[in-house]
Amino acid sequence: MEPAPGLYVHLPWCVKKCPYCDFNSHAVRDTPPYADYVAAVCADLEHQAGLYAPQPFGSIFFGGGTPSLFQPEHIERILLTAQQSVGVLGDAEITLEANPGAIEHGSFKGYQAAGVTRISLGIQSFEQAKLTALGRVHSVSDAYLAVEAIHQANIAELNIDLMYGLPQQSVAESLSDINTAVSLGPTHISHYQLTIEPNTLFAVRTPTLPDGETCFDMQVDCQSALSESGFNQYEVSAYAKPGFEGNHNLNYWKYGDYLGVGAGAHGKVTVQDDAAKLATAGKTVDKTVEPSTGQATKRTRRTQKPKHPAQYLQDPLALVTTDSSEQECVFEFMLNRLRLNTGVTGAELAPFPWLKSRESQARFAAAVERGLLKINSDGGWSKTALGSRFLNDLQEVFLP
Ligand SMILES: C[S@@+](CC[C@H](N)C(=O)[O-])C[C@H]1O[C@@H](n2cnc3c(N)ncnc32)[C@H](O)[C@@H]1O
Ligand code: SF4
Repeated sequence: MEPAPGLYVHLPWCVKKCPYCDFNSHAVRDTPPYADYVAAVCADLEHQAGLYAPQPFGSIFFGGGTPSLFQPEHIERILLTAQQSVGVLGDAEITLEANPGAIEHGSFKGYQAAGVTRISLGIQSFEQAKLTALGRVHSVSDAYLAVEAIHQANIAELNIDLMYGLPQQSVAESLSDINTAVSLGPTHISHYQLTIEPNTLFAVRTPTLPDGETCFDMQVDCQSALSESGFNQYEVSAYAKPGFEGNHNLNYWKYGDYLGVGAGAHGKVTVQDDAAKLATAGKTVDKTVEPSTGQATKRTRRTQKPKHPAQYLQDPLALVTTDSSEQECVFEFMLNRLRLNTGVTGAELAPFPWLKSRESQARFAAAVERGLLKINSDGGWSKTALGSRFLNDLQEVFLP
């Protein structure tokens, strides 16, 4: 049985733009048109539900931007639309991203009542100097207060986002952030190395960052501390208590389907050929690439919404679609699946006949030769420790 699809909802505004951030996020000027945006998201969702008729959602993720700028009533309205247009499984994971500096604490109870089961809280560091260097709008005490309010609201799952490799950070300081996060009782921790992205303020005025070796030491020491505290690493940056892995992101990494609604949101859907033709009618702009075999009955379709909130509000039903060729699908699958620490079973590879081709076998052999991958007895494979450390090199082996 196909895994239940996910729904990603992009909520694009933030109190202020952080200097390292290249997400599709926009600093609020006057009050943004929250209610109009929610109406647009609901129309977008109904439209895509009509085009693709997905199975009921197994996970919903409100990402941003800063979704906690939206009122619980807004979130409730979108969830109701999801329920009425597609359906939501009874045990669906419903995550909302929150910034400790952009939340009225009473709101967590409201989000919980609206159906949110998981909060992902962007704390980044428990050191005030680091928060200041990162241009965050919240203080260390805001972070503690937000965690307390989330526990009080009986929200079942809490993810804390932390970053490491911060300006002037030592290995001991990064470890201290991890230990503080663990002491607050989250079910999940996401631990990201700060990257300098083009088109950000940090790309123009780059602060002095720890060198590569120091960052690697931070990663290794924090991995050990998390493991000793009962958090299993299941992906490059994701650690969870057993049974609390983030299902929404797991679905991306396992190459599952999801709808993407809201400004700039991406989606991935599997369509039958007939449905593919249908979905290119009306508002949809088609940039179809024919599958290389020419006889596939199912296609993998990528969808994308207009990026800027103003553009999106003008035409919330606009949707650009691109169908992936068979080999692009293999690369997309590998790119995502290789992020997970669990090995790939032979059965998971069945939808990708190209992986049995001579060319593909040669690429696998090269990856094994370089010590990045090992082949398992059922025909599946696992990354080696070297493959995990040099993931980009391993992913490149499967570039189309
Ligand atoms: C959309 S944000 C989370 C919610 C909210 N916007 C916030 O920042 O609190 C997702 C996470 O990505 C991480 N992140 C953003 N930009 C990053 C960068 N340049 N390098 C590493 N991690 C980054 C941060 O940990 C952030 O919490
Ligand atoms: S609050 Fe989050 S999404 Fe907004 S600018 Fe900062 S890192 Fe980006």
